[in-house]
Amino acid sequence: MTNFLEKRIDRIAILTGAGVSAESGLNTFRDSDGLWEGYDPLDIASPKALDSNRDMVLDFYNSRRSQLNGCLPNLSHLAISKFQKDFSGHVFLITQNADDLYERAGSPQVLHMHGSLKSMRCDFCSEEMEAIKKFKKSTLCPSCRKAGRLRPDVVFFGEIPKQLYEINIEIMKADLFVSIGTSGVVYPAAGFVADARNNGAIGVEINKEKSEVTNLFDFSYVGLATNEVTRFFSKLLSEKDF
Ligand code: OAD
Repeated sequence: MTNFLEKRIDRIAILTGAGVSAESGLNTFRDSDGLWEGYDPLDIASPKALDSNRDMVLDFYNSRRSQLNGCLPNLSHLAISKFQKDFSGHVFLITQNADDLYERAGSPQVLHMHGSLKSMRCDFCSEEMEAIKKFKKSTLCPSCRKAGRLRPDVVFFGEIPKQLYEINIEIMKADLFVSIGTSGVVYPAAGFVADARNNGAIGVEINKEKSEVTNLFDFSYVGLATNEVTRFFSKLLSEKDF
């Protein structure tokens, strides 16, 4: 049985980016007023930056963490979460976002491939733990009691994203790959659509505007995530015959 995408779909991989959280009040990276505007990301989100100016890097992530407190999941987080629960097949959610808005929207599963603002780790003792609201170079690790090597548990440029093996399996097996609110320029996530389509998946992009990579997808829906995501997943769920 097929649906409006003209394909039987049992397995879906969803990749999301900062555009999904934009309508919750969190800045994206590359839009105007984005987090990287006026900055070279390598000066903030790299191991070198952490070594050379640790407090500046920690402050950047401390303030992003504190911004989260004033934000709520929006209709797109809620629509994705509902779809994950209601779809009869397999759905795997991968996000590049380090916020916790899917968890707060009730998503049953989300893989944060670029890590999470809500956790930190210590490079002395390797312990991962819930992030202290604001921490500095001088903050003692709650586990080993040493100072100087606490860092947010996020993935910096030049570091390997989390759980890539698991992600690759899901991408290869997917019948449908849906990319939402991402500029599609940061690898390896930017390569997922090609991997999925080379293995037979349909590629769908949902974005506020056509992106640099729209031509890599079979279908493109242009509009705000809160409108388009809700519409797209409702339509998939309402198909009676798949
Ligand atoms: P970007 O800022 O690069 O892209 C956000 C995308 O979302 C753009 O294509 C926007 O057009 C779109 N967008 C903005 N508002 C939207 C809305 N309301 N509805 C739908 N789309 C909207 O963010 P990412 O693609 O997530 O990595 O960036 C990828 C990675 O680059 C991030 O995870 C981060 C960053 O550097 C690291 O820090 C390692």
